[in-house]
Formats: sequence, C-alpha cells, structure tokens
Amino acid sequence: MKVLVSDPLSEQGLAKLNQHFTVDVLTGLSEEELVDKIPDYEALVIRSGTQVTRKVIEAADKMKIIGRAGVGVDNVDVEAATEKGIIVVNAPEGNMLSAAEHTVAMMLALSRNIPQANSSLKSKKWERKKFMGVEVNGKVLGVIGLGRIGAEVAKRAQGLEMDILAYDPFISEERAKELGVKLRTVQEIAKESDFITVHTPLTKETRNIVDKAEFDLMKSNARIVNCARGGIISEEALAEALQSGKIAGAAVDVFVNEPPFESPLLDCDNLIATPHLGASTEEAQINVAVSVAEEVISVLNGGTAKNAINIPSVKPEIMTMLAPYIQLAETMSKACAQLLGKNYERLEISYHGEIAEKDTRPITVAALKGMLQVALGSAVNYVNAASLAKSRKVGVIESKSETSEEYASTISIKIIRGNESESITGTVIGNSGKIISINNEHVDIVPSGYIIVAKHVNKPNVIGPCCIVLGENGINISGMQVGRAEIGGTTMMALNVDSEVPEPILKEMRSVEGIIDAKLIKL
Ligand code: NAD
Ligand code: MLT
Repeated sequence: MKVLVSDPLSEQGLAKLNQHFTVDVLTGLSEEELVDKIPDYEALVIRSGTQVTRKVIEAADKMKIIGRAGVGVDNVDVEAATEKGIIVVNAPEGNMLSAAEHTVAMMLALSRNIPQANSSLKSKKWERKKFMGVEVNGKVLGVIGLGRIGAEVAKRAQGLEMDILAYDPFISEERAKELGVKLRTVQEIAKESDFITVHTPLTKETRNIVDKAEFDLMKSNARIVNCARGGIISEEALAEALQSGKIAGAAVDVFVNEPPFESPLLDCDNLIATPHLGASTEEAQINVAVSVAEEVISVLNGGTAKNAINIPSVKPEIMTMLAPYIQLAETMSKACAQLLGKNYERLEISYHGEIAEKDTRPITVAALKGMLQVALGSAVNYVNAASLAKSRKVGVIESKSETSEEYASTISIKIIRGNESESITGTVIGNSGKIISINNEHVDIVPSGYIIVAKHVNKPNVIGPCCIVLGENGINISGMQVGRAEIGGTTMMALNVDSEVPEPILKEMRSVEGIIDAKLIKL
C-alpha cells in the first residue's frame, strides 16, 4: 500500500510508516497536482499546509485514511471525506503542551517588549526607558476557551501567580473549581483582565468573539494573545485598538490569512507576532507525526483509529443494525444541548422496547458526542466522547426498560444543568429517525435542518404573529407542530424552517405576547 505525505513530517513518523508501506513525500503540491497524484494512494498524511478539498477527496479512489499531524482539521473537507468513507484522524494531544508554552512565552514577551527591545539593540540602540514593561505576577489573566490548551495555560499562569478568569460555556463549575479558575462572561473578562488569551476552536460562535465592543470594555493597559486560530479575535478591531492605544499590546501567532502579509496588524508597533509557531517544537512534531503514523498503520491493517473525527468505532455488522439509532441519538442530543445552552452536568439516556435488549454502548457514545460537539466541534469523536465527558465532569446515566408503549423502540435523552433540563424522545421507523416528543410535548419531527422550538401560552393570536415575524423576514416555514394543552396552559410549537434564523428575528418572536421562549436548533 502507498502513503502520500504532502507536508513536512518528522523523521520518527516517516520511519514508522516506511516499515509498513511505500511512502512518497511530495510537499508543496498544487490542488491540481494533488488531484492528479492522489488516486494512487491508500493514505494521505498532512499538516496545515495541504488543503484537502472536495475535489482532491473525490479523486482519492483508494484512500482509506487522511491523517492530520496536528489539532485543527480546518484544511480538510471532513464532510466530503465522510461521504467518500474516508476516515479522518488528527493528533489532538501531541502539540498541546507546546501550544500552551508558546502562549505563555508570547504573554511574557509582550509584557516585557522583548521582541521590540531585541530589534532595537541589534540596530545598535540602547533604549532602556522606551521598553519599560509590566509584571505578570498578581495580574488577572482571562482565558477564553478552557479546553486542553486553555487549561494548560491556566495551570502555567497560576505558577506565575496570576489570577485566572475563564469563559467557556461548556465547562462545568466543578471543572473550573478543580482548575482553580473563576468562570466569567466574555464581557466580564474584557473588563477585569490585564491579560487575555483565546483557546477556542474557530467556529461560527467563536469567530470575532473578541470584537470592537469587547475592546471598548478593556483596560487601557490590557494585553491580548491569540495562539489558537486567526479570526477568533477580530483582526480589524484589534488593529484599531492597537493603533488608537485603546489597549497596550497584543501577541499573535495565527492569522485569518496565512501568511498575513496584507494584514494591518503587522504595521502595529505594539503587536508582536510569530508565523504560526505554536506547535513548532521538536517534541510536538515527533508526537503528532508518530501518533498519526500509528493511526495510519492501524487503519490500513484493518484496525480502528483512536482519534477518528468522522467514524464510530464499532464492528460493521453491529453498525448496520444500530446505525439509525446512533444517528438519531446523536442528533437528538445535539438538539437537546442547543436547547439547554451551556454547562451541562449530566446526560441521561433511556432505552425502551427492543433496542433496550441490544448493545447500546455505541448509541450512548453517539449521544455524548452529539452533546459535546455543540461545544467542541470536530474535536469530539466516537472514541474520545466518553473520556472528554469524564474529564469535564459531565455524568452519564443509562437506563433500560424492555417495554415501550407506542413504538417498538424509543430512545429518550435528557440533558441536565442544576434544576434545568431539556429532554427529547425519538424512534426509528424503517431506517429513519424521528423526534416524537420534546419536553414531554408530543411532536412528529424529522430531525434535520433548522427547527425553532417555541414555548408559549395556548391562547389565540400567538402562533399567527410568530409566523408573520418569520414571513416578514423572508424565512420559509416548511413544517409545524403544536403541542396540546388546556386553554391558557403552556405548550410548545416546533417549526421546521428552510434557513438559519438570526438572533434578532428570534428576539422579535420572543416579544410576541404569549411566547415564553423561542430557540433555534441547527442539525
Ligand atoms: P479543545 O477542543 O481541547 O478546547 C477548546 C475549548 O473551547 C473547549 O473547552 C470548548 O468548550 C471551548 N469552546 C467552544 N466553543 C466556545 C465558545 N463559543 N466560547 C468559549 N469557549 C468555547 O481544543 P485545544 O486542543 O485546546 O485547541 C484550542 C485551539 O488551539 C484550537 O483552535 C486549535 O486549532 C488551536 N491550536 C493552535 C496551535 C498553534 O500552532 N498555534 C497548536 C495547537 C492548537
Ligand atoms: C494545530 O492545529 O495543530 C496547530 O495549528 C498546529 C499546526 O497547524 O500544525
């Protein structure tokens, strides 16, 4: 079998691959060249340089696995790979310590103007007064995104005697306590921190999570660091804040466009920058290369992958029977998590009827994956979902009853935070899943696309005005379910809509008299 390595990979990783396969290292290929060569290979190993587009994947007829030696899979069209049945794996832990150390190095370099002072001295100037710095000791560090790297940064900053605030809507109070950090909102972090660092994935929710409004709240001596992904901090707002002196400085390792030669950030004297070096250590590059090489060897030899992003790790024959239930549980859990919003404490999953007699473990894992994915995106897979839940102190309770009233089998999912919870029940008809109740209100919904769930008082002139709000904003309703309740009682409507509903429109719906709440689920 043949493996194509299309970005520089450490010798240790290459040596492992060479023991088993014919390995070609061809770096710097254009999309066309890659499309031309890819049909010959069973595996592709990349770092961040190669763009594995749909076009490349469509040409990859023998491909079984794409291995990303690093965390972010932003450069792989995972959807296209999944459609083609290609496993995508990453190496989520191999470079985490290097990225955390780089963040701390950037924060210290920023606090003491080290890069600027170095350049000044090398141009034969002796400017001691110009490069007055600040201590980090006793200062407040705000961490946005308290996952693997965020937590490691927090631990190291505690060693520097900093006080840590954190924003991560998917972290429980218990985990925050364990790490010795105080949970805050992004705005509180902006107001209270001397240093801010971001460690989220780049998603729709985190893009520009630090924007002009947040810079306006910051102290004039605040300093901000981005060693995660370009775009989490708005580059435009950051350039403006640096140029106007609204904040004291910034340290950036990652950019929206890399290399960022057109970025106004590079013209700011109070910005220090590195060319995406977070994972550039000998140790990290060995770790990620070896990890990905081991995954490729396992998968091409018929085994499973530990860090698969897009496939469940179950035997094919079990998979066939469980597949629609796995899909349903994952989707319902994703929907429930979106309804609840943040900081889940427990997932309860109950199986009723025939499904209760089967091995339901992959279904429970899929439910966990669906819930955690709302927070962690592609970092969660079927293999790591349970351990991620455990490390986040999210409990899982599974129960089974062999009786089921209306359907042969049903699955109920409940996600809980303190006294609040959301629950969804579904079943499988033929090979397709459907939602049959939301918070015990009877519905009949295909779980896909966009669904608005609106709690309301059962009285005249509530549903109509809501539909008018959507209609006037050009949102097409493709399906509607209204729960039953006594007149004046509380019930629920579920609206399938054909497009995303922006928050201002949901807000307008919530202002309709009789509407208690309206939330959008994206499946
Ligand atoms: P992780 O998945 O372990 O942690 C991400 C955290 O972000 C999670 O705890 C999640 O709950 C949180 N999060 C998700 N959405 C959020 C939101 N809307 N608001 C606040 N928090 C949110 O990921 P990680 O391994 O710690 O990686 C963090 C980032 O660092 C990623 O973007 C990764 O690509 C990047 N990275 C960069 C380098 C580099 O070379 N500079 C190296 C490694 C990783
Ligand atoms: C990652 O996502 O692992 C880092 O950004 C480092 C890299 O791209 O190799």
